[in-house]
Amino acid sequence: MKEYKRHLVTAALPYANGPVHIGHLAGNFLPADIYVRYLRANNEDVKFICGTDEHGVPITIRAMKEGVTPQEIVDKYFTIINDSLHQMGISFDIFSRTSNQIHHDTSQAFFLNLYEKGLFEERESAQFFDEEKQIFLADRYITGTCPKCGNENAYGDQCEKCGSSLSPEELINPKSALSQSVPIKKNTTHWYLPLQHYEEWLKQWIIEDHKEWKNNVYGQCKSWLDSGLHARAMTRDSHWGVAVPLPNAEGKVLYVWFDAPIGYISATKELTPQWSDYWCKEDTKLVHFLGKDNIVFHCIIFPAMLKAHGGFVLPNNVPANEFLNIEGEKVSTSRNWAVWVDEYLKDFPEMQDSMRYTLCANMPETKDNDFTWKDFQDRNNNELVAILGNFVNRAFVLMHKLCNGKVPAFHLDQKDEKDDALFEKIVQTKKDIETSIENYRFREGLFSVIDLARKGNIYLQDKEPWKKGDDQIAIDNCIHMCLQLTANLAIFMNPFLPFTAQKLCRMMKVVDRMLAWEHGGSLKLLQKGYPLNPPALLFRKIEDEEIALQKEKLSKGSQQATSNQTQVTPTASLKETISFEDFDKIDIRVATITAAEKVAKADKLLKLTLDLGFETRTVVSGIALHYTPEEIVGKQVSVIANLAPRKMKGIESNGMILMAENEAGKLIFINADGGAMNGSQVK
Ligand code: MF3
Ligand code: ZN
Repeated sequence: MKEYKRHLVTAALPYANGPVHIGHLAGNFLPADIYVRYLRANNEDVKFICGTDEHGVPITIRAMKEGVTPQEIVDKYFTIINDSLHQMGISFDIFSRTSNQIHHDTSQAFFLNLYEKGLFEERESAQFFDEEKQIFLADRYITGTCPKCGNENAYGDQCEKCGSSLSPEELINPKSALSQSVPIKKNTTHWYLPLQHYEEWLKQWIIEDHKEWKNNVYGQCKSWLDSGLHARAMTRDSHWGVAVPLPNAEGKVLYVWFDAPIGYISATKELTPQWSDYWCKEDTKLVHFLGKDNIVFHCIIFPAMLKAHGGFVLPNNVPANEFLNIEGEKVSTSRNWAVWVDEYLKDFPEMQDSMRYTLCANMPETKDNDFTWKDFQDRNNNELVAILGNFVNRAFVLMHKLCNGKVPAFHLDQKDEKDDALFEKIVQTKKDIETSIENYRFREGLFSVIDLARKGNIYLQDKEPWKKGDDQIAIDNCIHMCLQLTANLAIFMNPFLPFTAQKLCRMMKVVDRMLAWEHGGSLKLLQKGYPLNPPALLFRKIEDEEIALQKEKLSKGSQQATSNQTQVTPTASLKETISFEDFDKIDIRVATITAAEKVAKADKLLKLTLDLGFETRTVVSGIALHYTPEEIVGKQVSVIANLAPRKMKGIESNGMILMAENEAGKLIFINADGGAMNGSQVK
């Protein structure tokens, strides 16, 4: 590893137009984090760079739909994404944003460097324009009838029904997806980077010099290069993004795929005044982690940009992953078929390592892979709890029971071949993990860790120290080995399961420094006579109900999202005007839901028990498709308290709780924000 003086590791910048899901974790954040933690444990000089990608069309469209500014969208999601990744233990040295001034300056200077060298071609072309929204339309935002199969909802770049790839010109009756108006063609000028000029150089650099890249990456690059490169526009018409730094370029911004990768450079600048050591010195090892849809940008376009600019290092490797499916289906954010990281953290607090473990074990390294909640439960219960947690727990419990809570001595003269075999296994495991991580095979590395714990259990089972009676030497030797193995496990698991490694350090009363990789493979990590803490719970079992709930959440979320696609904005036609006296008849009170249960044979209804302060009553509410009973117990609501009783499915309902629809079509509570007194009047 010491061929390089320093390492620069990037994880693809997530778009700030939605929260991150576990596919993002498995695809790039987690492998990058494992790699970086391993480098740090080896005392390597490394910077781990990321941030949010805050420009591009999808963000402006989302803002338009929600009726807010793009800035509001990116501010909201920056916070959510940053928190989620941080809490999952993704240990960036910096998590920046492409809306920061330093990024605008850096990417404009980059553009000007190429411009001044005359490397862009300036071209005028006619593009579709939405006159109503005053916006040029990216291909994806034009819909119409597919000329091949007649599907009326084909996109300007593709028909999802017959799979043909299209250009917007081919669509019959093209319409703007934003306003449904008929787009016109309008001339516009842009700056193109003639990628074909870099083709020969790229062929040499990738096809010849980087045969060691992963097959999926190498193969994709080769097919792009074989089919020939063309000029690609590096600017767009928009008011959201990095302004093109030229006179008369009003309303033009840098193409998001031009500015975003430069975000790696700007974030490094923001991080350290030594940024140019990392970006410009040949003894830096630059590695980009990303998902397969980003390969062409990181292997072809960004390197061509770096080459055109000059003075920057190129990536040594681009270990891109394939996709992670959920329960056998492709992730779809529009259909809400995803497991959101922020929600996972709420539902499974303090269980980051269980998810890290499952995602690493199923990492889509060579092909698409699948996440299922059942597998998550199985891996947690059968591997983390039953193998790793169990081994450590037994070693500690036995040490407290049979060795006075202290690390016993090891009597060399009584060493046997089982001890030797275990030691060899530890040493071999260390080498195996090194090879795995250094070659970006993280699943394999993780399996080596768990396999070592498995060997620990077998060793303990073979030796049966609890049956050794007075033979304290046999007991001591066995427990000593088990404790040294535990310390080694902490070192080896640290890149993968950092939270658990920390817990182990606390149990062993050692400082983090013990986790240095060079300490791995030693049997002298814990000193004889050293008192250790009682065992802490490393992993907890996950119950069937928790899994059922998650599966339900997944399918409900997607049902809602699908029904929402046909839903429209709030209607403007109000009900007939009422007098103040009429209004004053309605008695709205604050109440807390103290119990909730499903109503038999009515999939939409929940029977709620409400505490109104002065009384408790039953209300039947049509919210079962939106909430599980567990979710809403304890919530404060507003209730129309003087509504005449009404029987629903044989249950008398006494009142009605106030709900409204959010933009995703989900019913949400019009609540009293938790601070009001039950029974108090809403006025
Ligand atoms: N935002 C892009 C995506 O989520 C990735 C950008 S990576 C960068 O697909 F290199 F451009 F930063
Ligand atoms: Zn079609």
